[in-house]
Amino acid sequence: MKLAPSILSADFANLERDIKLVERGGADYIHIDVMDGHFVPNITFGPNVVSAIRPITKLTLDCHLMIENPENYINDFAKAGADIISVHVESTRHIHRTLQMIRNAGVKPGVVINPGTPVAAIEPILNDVDLVLVMTVNPGFGGQSFIPETLDKIRQLEQLKKDNGYHYEIEVDGGINEKTIQLCHDAGASVFVAGSYIYSADAPLKRMDQLKEAVQ
Ligand code: DX5
Ligand code: ZN
Repeated sequence: MKLAPSILSADFANLERDIKLVERGGADYIHIDVMDGHFVPNITFGPNVVSAIRPITKLTLDCHLMIENPENYINDFAKAGADIISVHVESTRHIHRTLQMIRNAGVKPGVVINPGTPVAAIEPILNDVDLVLVMTVNPGFGGQSFIPETLDKIRQLEQLKKDNGYHYEIEVDGGINEKTIQLCHDAGASVFVAGSYIYSADAPLKRMDQLKEAVQ
């Protein structure tokens, strides 16, 4: 399993401190939530924040783009030092072309589906991605409750992966805690984003241990 703490719930005035903290806790990816105020009703940060983070950690920078027309920003995020760029299938007219752009920029491509989007919407491109991110809340904010109906999509993706020999990792994002992580793990997910569960706690490292123990 891999843990991907989301810096959406970190202290933006102390990002370096909060990234080093989860590094010490054994984070695998740093999950970076990019929001534009159009695709989702919230605004966060852009490529310049990614390039500011790049020199302070060797961890995989897992960039989750919640922006309209992400194809216009792929090269900026690649240059900024993203290791994975994930785009929502709902956010671009040409998902295949956008994924190709990410691959051509030397970055691992991921595709994301909202809770209301079926797996069928991404079936034709599953061979082209290194990561499938299943949103387990509606994107836009940290601290929301896990939507259990999304578990079935994780199972479907795990089955499709086995049946077709695809290589993607299945990542889940939203409402992950020590209970929901088990459900997602049993369904087939292997990368777990957690924001508020880690960063809003008094003892973030203890929370990271609890997440890891929950799926052992
Ligand atoms: C929501 C973001 C998530 C968010 C998760 O749009 O994509 O990455 O940080 O936050 P929690 O873990 O608090 O649900
Ligand atoms: Zn996210």
